Amino acid sequence: MAVGEKITVSVIKADIGGWPGHSSVHPALMEKAKEILAAAKEEGILTDFYVTHCGDDLQLVMTHKKGVDSSEIHGLAWKAFEEGTKVAKELGLYGAGQDLLKDAFSGNIRGMGPGIAEMEITLRKSEPIVTFHMDKTEPGAFNLPIFRMFADPFNTAGLVIDPNMHMGFRFEVWDILEHKRVFLSTPEELYDLLALIGAKSRYVIKRVFPKEGHKIDKNEPVAVISTEKLYQIAGEYVGKDDPVAIVRAQSGLPALGEVLEPFAFPHLVSGWMRGSHNGPIMPVPLRHSNPTRFDGPPRVVALGWQINSEGKLIGPVDLFDDPAFEWARQKALEIADYMRRHGPFEPHRLPLEDMEYTTLPHVLEKLKDRFKSVE
Ligand code: 13P
Ligand code: 13P
Ligand code: MG
Ligand code: MG
Repeated sequence: MAVGEKITVSVIKADIGGWPGHSSVHPALMEKAKEILAAAKEEGILTDFYVTHCGDDLQLVMTHKKGVDSSEIHGLAWKAFEEGTKVAKELGLYGAGQDLLKDAFSGNIRGMGPGIAEMEITLRKSEPIVTFHMDKTEPGAFNLPIFRMFADPFNTAGLVIDPNMHMGFRFEVWDILEHKRVFLSTPEELYDLLALIGAKSRYVIKRVFPKEGHKIDKNEPVAVISTEKLYQIAGEYVGKDDPVAIVRAQSGLPALGEVLEPFAFPHLVSGWMRGSHNGPIMPVPLRHSNPTRFDGPPRVVALGWQINSEGKLIGPVDLFDDPAFEWARQKALEIADYMRRHGPFEPHRLPLEDMEYTTLPHVLEKLKDRFKSVE
């Protein structure tokens, strides 16, 4: 393995049991996952790995040479989640096996419950990446920050002043209801892009690519976001699809600080209590990623890595463990308070079509004879 060779980074996550409620992951689950991934590394299946959690979601960060959508790698993650679920059941953890929606693995973990972000990349001389891990929200929560990193000149100075990125980027946007996708280039299609991704519960940024003329091949992603929609898979509410993302940085891409800058603004996202409320996303260090207040507010953790020439993960650096994000955390708490005071009213509570829980059909049924027409 060397610079110029291909390596795949896979972040695969699942909620296989909360400790307690929906707040955290018990260390025994992480130990079990480490044991399974360590054996796979020993066998040469994985190049490197790191096991962590964000809130109640178990997170597997892996490098390997098997490419994206590898049944071997997906099968390995599935095994870690299945074995972890056994431990979660023994410990009586909450919602043990929550995200494992199918009984048997059949070659690809997509559509089976866990969230996946993976990219195959040609290793640069130096390869800085950031993995983002969110809890209590949905993939559309990444629309605003990813847009800012790769298309907003007020966020990313490099778009204006770095000749290597002045040409802009290309966005792959998924319509997650219709299962369609479209590619849009910035800056020329900036307003069309925003027209879509502002509707973040429907149109989500899946990947970002460099354009023709960039140092990196135009078919190689520079950012990827998980877009699993658990409720579409299960046909019923089984937990928000707490998303993950991988972003490459530096050298013709947003600098590390440009990748993190969007999170200085704790924007509103959907999720929080019962997956049915809007609230601010709070950038936190790993040790503060356990949502408590009203099962929130939603959290985001950023882990920084250098991938070395052997494909090893040199890290993580817990990037939001920094007083520079203290103000964003304070602001998030202030917004959390403000939103909470709306109680069951919109726009704190989500609009009817986006709620994961509702009693409305029962209420309407009960009241149906008492509804009289208004003249
Ligand atoms: P593709 O189907 O475009 O390969 O996306 C894979 C994926 O990661 C789904 O979340
Ligand atoms: P998770 O999606 O993180 O399991 O949270 C579910 C929930 O209902 C929180 O109130
Ligand atoms: Mg949970
Ligand atoms: Mg969760």
